[in-house]
Amino acid sequence: MCGIVGYTGVDAAAELLVAGLKRLEYRGYDSAGLALVEAPCAAGAADAAGAADARDGRAALDIIRCAGKVAGLEDELATPGRCTVARLATCGIGHTRWATHGRPTVENAHPHVSCDGRIAVVHNGIIENFAELRASLEERGHVFKSETDTEVFAHLIEEAYQGAPNSAGGPAKTAGDLMAAVREACTHVVGAYGLAAVCADEPGVIAVARKDSPIVVGRGERGSYVASDVITLIDATRDVVVLEDGQFARLSPEGITYTDAQGRAIEPAVTHVDWDVDTAEKGGYPDFMMKEICEQPRVVRDTLVGRLASSGELDIDELGLTPEELSLVDRVYVIACGTSYHAGLIAKNLIEGWARIPCAVEAASEFRYRNPIITPSTLVVAVSQSGETADTLAAIRDARIKGAKVFGITNVVGSPVARESDGVIYTKANKEIAVASTKSFTGQVVSLTLLALLLAQTKGKLTTGQIRMLFRELGDTAEQIQHILDTQRAAVHEAALACREARSALFVGRGMGSAISCEGALKLKEVSYLHAEAYAAGEMKHGPIALIERGFPVIAVATKSPTYDKTVSNLKECEARGACIIAVATEGDEEITRVADHVIYVPPVRDALSPITATVPLQLLAREVAVLRGCDVDQPRNLAKSVTVE
Ligand code: G6P
Repeated sequence: MCGIVGYTGVDAAAELLVAGLKRLEYRGYDSAGLALVEAPCAAGAADAAGAADARDGRAALDIIRCAGKVAGLEDELATPGRCTVARLATCGIGHTRWATHGRPTVENAHPHVSCDGRIAVVHNGIIENFAELRASLEERGHVFKSETDTEVFAHLIEEAYQGAPNSAGGPAKTAGDLMAAVREACTHVVGAYGLAAVCADEPGVIAVARKDSPIVVGRGERGSYVASDVITLIDATRDVVVLEDGQFARLSPEGITYTDAQGRAIEPAVTHVDWDVDTAEKGGYPDFMMKEICEQPRVVRDTLVGRLASSGELDIDELGLTPEELSLVDRVYVIACGTSYHAGLIAKNLIEGWARIPCAVEAASEFRYRNPIITPSTLVVAVSQSGETADTLAAIRDARIKGAKVFGITNVVGSPVARESDGVIYTKANKEIAVASTKSFTGQVVSLTLLALLLAQTKGKLTTGQIRMLFRELGDTAEQIQHILDTQRAAVHEAALACREARSALFVGRGMGSAISCEGALKLKEVSYLHAEAYAAGEMKHGPIALIERGFPVIAVATKSPTYDKTVSNLKECEARGACIIAVATEGDEEITRVADHVIYVPPVRDALSPITATVPLQLLAREVAVLRGCDVDQPRNLAKSVTVE
């Protein structure tokens, strides 16, 4: 959460930074800000607002901040007389925030500056010892202007830059050296940070640090770039360095140098990015959520490419576990958060059903605080779209310490989840921008299906012939999703109209349908702000049925499955009490129309694979309801796509 950008080069930075921040808004959009390093100007020269008059020929920092979305910065920059010099600055850093410490006000918006106003920082992460750092800095005379934890960085860097003794009490080697001052400041901080700092006394330099929070840097033809996510860099360069924890980068218009925590020069690996630029654009769709829903057939296909060897064996090249290790697995935990957790619920059914291995699904934020039973034959499967969710990462680390093998399922190559797991499957969803996850979920479910098949193959529970058949049917879901997208939009719209004025909705299903319902309810809550709850259909009569009154929406996953008849009976109980029933049902099912007010049809598919198709109508429904209710589909209030705090 929170997005960082920085640029130093030959072009005006402000516009570039704002464009970069817009691509990062999925990480948070409570407030935004820029620090621009204005070029030195002649003594007495001033911009139209008089901002530069005291500069005495020195460079100056211009801080531009707003509460709310990045678009507010554009208004600031466009204000007549404001920022006339700043707009020409060729070096700057920017930030879009998801509030943790301190409310989303202008004062708490990044960048934060040192007491002398010469150093500015943007930060993503949490400083755990910020209260004690702040107290000791205040004792030494520093004046804080915000409630944020980040501001301590500005003051710590300032002290080091001015030549204060280092953390070990020794003489400073950091005076007048921004990069060294940042390294020194980091030695005081406990917590997570992706950080970029500029200093008016070193115009053109951006100092960057990373610990447990993503930072990518790259060199383009027109300068040097830094960001929290490669998506902001792809217009300038495809060759990027994903900084590792404890690595530092010094950007200047001429190039980038890298150091370790001791200041020794290092040469980190360069990663080539082959995402298409279109990923960052809506490509004619009204919003990213719709675009990403429609990309799901491709995601299924790409995630499966090359996974079945001609011998009929599954091929997962980043497996990281030997066949012996895999055959010894006797317990699986799937750990994840949010939508990824729901993908885990589906995996449980598949792993137990096909591989006959006990499987528990746990919210990562709970798993790490329990004392789960872990042995060397336990496999922990960590599912995370972003690959950087703090709770999931912490749970991975815990599980590994306790001796488990960890397998990651993530969408982001080189992400912390990928790097810290023994093996990984990449979901090939490409960048997902809408905060509500859709195509990543599908990529996760397909990947988890592959993993379940692999475990079943290794355990000898499915024959090669059965695996081939299931793999083929898995691939067929791509076309089936396309068919839903092509034929069911009108039905979804009708169903959405029935939910538009509701205050609450129930999602029900049995077995796979129950897991799918959980994701449907979450989607609706996230994007339409309508309260929604998922319940196992058979459990309705033990409480939730009391909620039902005339017109109350009950959204049912009632595709053909072994429990279809039972689900229909439960729906009749709801119908009898006046519920408005919206059913996701299998094509050709006429019986369902006797109980449901609205039906959205999906092609017939075996129950085990039904989540891949039956979730799609629920994604469409959530989006449609949100649109009808006038909500911001891509950036729902209070949420962020990447949750790097616990
Ligand atoms: C946030 C996002 C969700 C996502 C969850 C887990 O809450 O808004 O869409 O499912 O984080 O994220 P992860 O990246 O670990 O899958």
